[in-house]
Amino acid sequence: MQQPVRIAPSILSADFAKLGEEVRAIDEAGADYIHIDVMDGHFVPNITIGPAVVKALRAHSPKPFDCHLMIAPADPYLEAFAEAGADVISIHPEAGPHLHRSLQTIRALGKKAGVVLNPATPAEAIAHVMDLVDLVLVMSVNPGFGGQSFIETALPKIERLRALIEETGRAIDLEVDGGVNFDTAPRCIAAGADVLVAGSATFKGGAEAYAANIARLRGAC
Ligand code: DX5
Ligand code: ZN
Repeated sequence: MQQPVRIAPSILSADFAKLGEEVRAIDEAGADYIHIDVMDGHFVPNITIGPAVVKALRAHSPKPFDCHLMIAPADPYLEAFAEAGADVISIHPEAGPHLHRSLQTIRALGKKAGVVLNPATPAEAIAHVMDLVDLVLVMSVNPGFGGQSFIETALPKIERLRALIEETGRAIDLEVDGGVNFDTAPRCIAAGADVLVAGSATFKGGAEAYAANIARLRGAC
């Protein structure tokens, strides 16, 4: 079933010179998950943060760390992110040859397993691994950068994934990432999503605006 709306600010839009402070600020502002975008300059054309930074941030918030791995291969790093304190580890099916095995590995590390669908990746790509999945992340932009425009074809995909999730009878999170704002957020929720990643929409206006930004996103739904 669709769960209550949760907001996952993406720290990609935070001030990297003071990340710990930024994570504390979004936690206090009402974030439900802390969304951490990990990029390798190979799977996506940008480089961000690794397990050492995740570990350093762990002390700054007890909220679930939702680690979105945009790296290939991902398998050699799953243990490092688990040990660094990730709660959810999400991987793209394109990041390795054996999605089923990679999801098993994440579960065996005691973490929630997520799978991420790029705009061109069909919902059906994960139909046969749903039993191993705790979170499905729909990319509504091409991964790599914050501040891009929402790709509309994400909406019918969310509807299909909601149906796939309902068939399992399990409470699998359905998360949307990219171009989520006060206009697109309610449309994602209406299509069946229940977790919203928001980078620009959370961090705009500086720290004193975070609580209002998060509350407004939630309220828009
Ligand atoms: C893009 C990242 C997103 C990004 C979202 O590759 O996965 O999490 O930070 O940023 P906004 O909300 O600004 O589109
Ligand atoms: Zn992300």
